[in-house]
Amino acid sequence: VKGLSLSIALTLLLTTSYTFAEEHKPTGYFPIPPGSDHPQTAANLNYLINEQNQPQYRQHGWSMFEAINRTVKVEKQHGLTQLPIWQTWFSEKQIFTRKHYTEPAYCQLGKHAPKQTTEASPTPTSPHLSKLKKGKHHTLTWAEKFKQQTPTYPNSSNPDGMLFANNGDIMIAGEYFNLSGFNHLRKHKLYLRDTLKKMLADGKKSIPTFPADTMVLKSMYWPIAKDSHTALPVWDNTLARPPYQYNGYETWKRAVAVQGNLKPISQGQTKTVKSLYKVTVPGYDTPRRFPKSKVVSIGDFYHIQVNKKLLKAMDKNDRQILNNSANWAYNRDFQAGDYIAQIALHINTKEVEAWTFQSFWWHDQPNVGPFASGRPNLPTGTWQNYLMAEAYSQVTPREYDGSNHVAYNPYIEPVIHPIPTNCQNCHARAALNGKYDDNPSGRREIKPNDPIFKNDLRTDYLWIIPDRAIPLPMQ
Ligand code: HEC
Repeated sequence: VKGLSLSIALTLLLTTSYTFAEEHKPTGYFPIPPGSDHPQTAANLNYLINEQNQPQYRQHGWSMFEAINRTVKVEKQHGLTQLPIWQTWFSEKQIFTRKHYTEPAYCQLGKHAPKQTTEASPTPTSPHLSKLKKGKHHTLTWAEKFKQQTPTYPNSSNPDGMLFANNGDIMIAGEYFNLSGFNHLRKHKLYLRDTLKKMLADGKKSIPTFPADTMVLKSMYWPIAKDSHTALPVWDNTLARPPYQYNGYETWKRAVAVQGNLKPISQGQTKTVKSLYKVTVPGYDTPRRFPKSKVVSIGDFYHIQVNKKLLKAMDKNDRQILNNSANWAYNRDFQAGDYIAQIALHINTKEVEAWTFQSFWWHDQPNVGPFASGRPNLPTGTWQNYLMAEAYSQVTPREYDGSNHVAYNPYIEPVIHPIPTNCQNCHARAALNGKYDDNPSGRREIKPNDPIFKNDLRTDYLWIIPDRAIPLPMQ
């Protein structure tokens, strides 16, 4: 009897504290649904990692992807009625600012961002290569060659908006933190460069590490025209060039034609589509033409249709990001009624010290190959059209040739990095004065006491902190 009442008391206690936390959740914010697979204990996950039980931890990745993509009804405002859960989280723009936000990014719709302030300077879009070591000799280093092959998008350096981050290409990017991660970063003022510098001056080796239930995302949407078929390049694991040269989506062989409405599509339907207008892609004629591309439906993707009210409620930077993207993709401005389709999503969780990394992308033949393996049968959604790569270790499971584990998202990493990278290896290097130069070539395992951190402050596997802490270094 005693044991029973204790368990009742415990249940009550837990229920009460849960309700308490719920009450303090900001209006409009939706956490990962209760009863989902996240967070797992570090002990559980570390056991699976040590055992190299890749099928099991891949299951964990899939279930988180499905859970945060469930849609929730949002207060009807600005034409929005529902959103994927993660799209109700805090955006990078709300984090790296002196202003304190109490509600997530989409709740700022209609409240147009104040005029440009000094801290909202243009995003360092791809700062990575500029930091790469220059070759000592006259021959081109791989990095220089990579840079020469990188496409050029005209006027691509506009500032980030409240919802979207400028990626400088067709992809409409976003970086989002869940409440736990947002609160930690804000509480310790990790968005201020001065805080980080002071920690370093005080002899600290790392920022305070994030709570175990932190989730941080990087998302990519593709614009889809409502009145035609939009070309979307798809990744068939075939490199146009050697792995250390530029292999971004602009170079891929095949595309699908995404039909911008939900009408049924007949079997075998094809369409010739074009993409990359006004974009210079070394080695290719643009706009690129993709003859007889397979027609797929916008309904095959997680997507949002942007209606008139919603478009009007966005700030001008977000609208500019959409317009640039639509112009490069299909040669006109983004119009009300056009869609944004989720093509890629990175999910990082602090369930273990070195974080879990999993990344998802869309494919029209999603049931074949290693990236489809272990995808479980999950509740509703279009999750079954996505593939996944994961890095729960910098080393294992090893590749067929014995080299360290490779994990990249074909849409995201190859536009700035060579192919053979590992999420955790690069993120392990995140530090105030850190550089990520030798990740692709060496993929040497990086431990917290690595000599690269001498006289530096580690930023808990988050590059976004040294990249974006304000004021930016150029000021
Ligand atoms: C060679 C380096 C490198 C590799 C490899 C890499 N990233 Fe990143 N990642 C970065 C940098 C740099 C940023 C910061 C971009 C910014 O300033 O917004 C970033 C940002 C992110 C973010 C947003 C928050 C943050 O800073 O952590 C997530 C989430 C993320 N990456 C996940 C992944 C995943 C998952 C993979 C593997 C599929 C991956 N990354 C591979 C360098 C890398």
